Amino acid sequence: MIKKKRIKTYASTLVIVMFVIQFVPLDRINPPETSPLRAPDTVMAVLKKSCYDCHSHETEWSGPAYIAPVSWAVSAKVFFGRRALNFSQWDAGSKTGQRTRIEALNNTILGIRQHQLLYYAANRKARMSAEERRLLLNWIENVKREQRTGFKNSGNTPPDKTL
Ligand code: HEC
Repeated sequence: MIKKKRIKTYASTLVIVMFVIQFVPLDRINPPETSPLRAPDTVMAVLKKSCYDCHSHETEWSGPAYIAPVSWAVSAKVFFGRRALNFSQWDAGSKTGQRTRIEALNNTILGIRQHQLLYYAANRKARMSAEERRLLLNWIENVKREQRTGFKNSGNTPPDKTL
C-alpha cells in the first residue's frame, strides 16, 4: 500500500514539474538573414531540408520545440548549430573562415563525423538520400575549385545555375 502511495506522489510531482517547466521562457527567434548562402536551387533544396533547422535563421520550430524539456534541447541545438555554421550569414568572416567552413561541410556530408543522429531519427523526412549527398559533394567540389582558382562555377554567383 505504501509503495502505491509513493508512486502516486512521484507521478503527481512529475505532472506538476512538467507543467511548471512549460513556463520557462525560451527564445525561438529567427533573426533576419544578413548574407544568405546562394547556391543552385537543387543544392539549396537539400540543405534546407536537411540542415537549415539548425544552421540558419529559417528554423522551422515544430511541435516538440514548444514542449519542455524537449524544447530546451531543441533550442540549444539551434543555438550551437547556428554558432558553428550559419547559412544565413554565409559571407560573414574571412576567406580562411570560408575555406574551413567548406571543409567542415565536406567532412560532415561525407559522414566522417557522425552528426545529429537523434534529429534524423525523429525527422525521417530530413534525411539525405545517397543521390542528394552526391549532389552536395559535387557542389562543394565546385566551390573549392572556385576558391582555389577564382573561377566562378559553383552557382554562388546568381545567373550561373549550371549544376
Ligand atoms: C539538430 C540540429 C542539427 C542539424 C539538423 C544539423 N546540424 Fe550541423 N551542427 C549542429 C550542432 C549543434 C553543431 C555544433 C556542435 C557539433 O559540432 O556537433 C553542428 C556543427 C556542424 C558543423 C561544424 C563542424 C565543425 O567542425 O566546425 C558542420 C559543418 C555541420 N554541422 C554541418 C551540417 C550539415 C551539412 C547538416 C545537414 C546535412 C547539418 N549540419 C545538420 C546541429 C545540427
